Amino acid sequence: MNVFTSKTELTKFLEQERIKDKNIGFVPTMGALHQGHLSLIQESRKRTNLTVCSIYVNPTQFNVKSDLENYPRNTEKDIELLVSENCDVCFLPNTNDVYPNGVSKLLEINLSGLDKRMEGERRSGHFDGVVTVVNNLFEIINPDIAFFGEKDFQQLAVIRKMTQVLNMNVEIVGCPIIREPDGLAMSSRNERLTRHERLAATFIYNTLLATKNLNGSIQEKKDFVIKQFENHALFKLDYFDITSEKNLTACIEEPSKLTRAFIAAFIGKVRLIDNIALNN
Ligand code: PAJ
Repeated sequence: MNVFTSKTELTKFLEQERIKDKNIGFVPTMGALHQGHLSLIQESRKRTNLTVCSIYVNPTQFNVKSDLENYPRNTEKDIELLVSENCDVCFLPNTNDVYPNGVSKLLEINLSGLDKRMEGERRSGHFDGVVTVVNNLFEIINPDIAFFGEKDFQQLAVIRKMTQVLNMNVEIVGCPIIREPDGLAMSSRNERLTRHERLAATFIYNTLLATKNLNGSIQEKKDFVIKQFENHALFKLDYFDITSEKNLTACIEEPSKLTRAFIAAFIGKVRLIDNIALNN
């Protein structure tokens, strides 16, 4: 695997590969890699013939400073995992390369409100940081296909919209959520849970499953989830929402189109998110 820390060297390498007609798959990450990330690498290896994974903890998408400071970092182990997946390129950029105009210069585009609900509402400015870093990384790497997880379903929708609005020539592929054997969605943040919290954390997915199986109106599903959380000793619900998959607008009545249920909740100081498709 080639490891690049400089944008100039990476672009030189990719130019050479493109001459050989390689199509380039890109998996942007913030490191602390787990099987969820590696599933994206595997999908990219299936669909393209050169896979680039970037590892960059993006400061502009954190609205809470301590969350950025406490974000787990383990580059050596990440590189070992990427080698074991036969990833072709690992890009470890510095902030000057990712933000040539400085971190205060964020992309301003109209995302038709996709960035304003749920995560966007709770984490002010979060998606401005996400679209800026992904756009800047796309400019450096110029991928044919980029892979994102449904674990961050709203992020996937926002990135799809960004590529439409900016008329970008890149295909966005969404990949399913990879879970621990007990159902907890894999996340770098799970590393910050105590043993006790980790055992309790399966509650999020169990609640989503129970909601999916509950025969009732949207309001009944919402009331059910709120009550489940009120009765839980460790979890505090941040939000529960049922929205259409396409434009992430709230569903009020039983919908006919594809819908998803979303949960964000705090356990101790750690904030976890998860979602589930309700119609299949
Ligand atoms: P990060 O949280 O490291 O996630 C990188 C990619 O892995 C995202 O597309 C995310 O949805 C996916 N992913 C994480 N956990 C997953 C799981 N359990 N199953 C499937 N996919 C999973 O998301 C980011 O980084 C950043 O916002 C980024 C896009 C890199 C921009 O900074």
